[in-house]
Amino acid sequence: MSRIPLISGNWKMNLNHFEAIQLVQKLSYELRNHDYDRVEVSVHPPFTNIRSIQTVIDADRMKFRLGAQNCHAETSGAFTGDISPAMLQKLDVDLVIVGHSERRALSGETNELVAAKARSVFAHGMTPIVCVGETIEQRESGEAEVIVEGQVRGSLAALSKDQLSEVVIAYEPVWAIGTGQTASTDDAQAMCSHIRSVVADIHRPAETKVRIQYGGSVNVANARELMAMEDIDGALVGGASLEAASFARIVSFQEV
Ligand code: PGA
Repeated sequence: MSRIPLISGNWKMNLNHFEAIQLVQKLSYELRNHDYDRVEVSVHPPFTNIRSIQTVIDADRMKFRLGAQNCHAETSGAFTGDISPAMLQKLDVDLVIVGHSERRALSGETNELVAAKARSVFAHGMTPIVCVGETIEQRESGEAEVIVEGQVRGSLAALSKDQLSEVVIAYEPVWAIGTGQTASTDDAQAMCSHIRSVVADIHRPAETKVRIQYGGSVNVANARELMAMEDIDGALVGGASLEAASFARIVSFQEV
């Protein structure tokens, strides 16, 4: 089964809305029509930039999928400072990152909360990108597979068979995020293959359709090799997505 790769730019807490507009315009200029034939590209700006980016994508008919970096699990209520999935849906967002390791580590997000967010994202007609990944201590003690398997099972809990085919999983070893240190292609492939077998165990044949991205210091130098691996269906790119030329090159590697 051929899966269309998804390359996602996670801008994190970077760029004001003017800078964000410039970046998306540069990126659109760098990419050619045929770049989108075999790959989907999403951009995930901070919340305050989503409306601006939505307007630019719409007005210039850009082919990017619009993403967010997080959302609340509830549709509305007394949650000061939070953003509802319904608000994102109204802005044409169709992909929402949930359970990024920075949120798991800094905001204490648990697998249960991530699962509730993933279900809510689906309930609002969007697709979650569910992040999983082990810390360096867990890798060094040989627990990486067990930890990641637990995150996959916990964070995808109670998704339907169709949702399990539709969801995107991002395997991002915590020690590789923002460090310039990437997992070896073999290690990344082995973990993505393991994740696929866990999905198979939950609901066959969802594993044939589910897309698994690799993330963690993906850049122009390592993207081609990583994305050529059988079980890696694209990338979640942080730092290198803030530079239009680098991100465009990462996207175009996926064609070959
Ligand atoms: P990085 O971030 O590419 O800067 O390592 C990836 C991510 O956190 O999604």
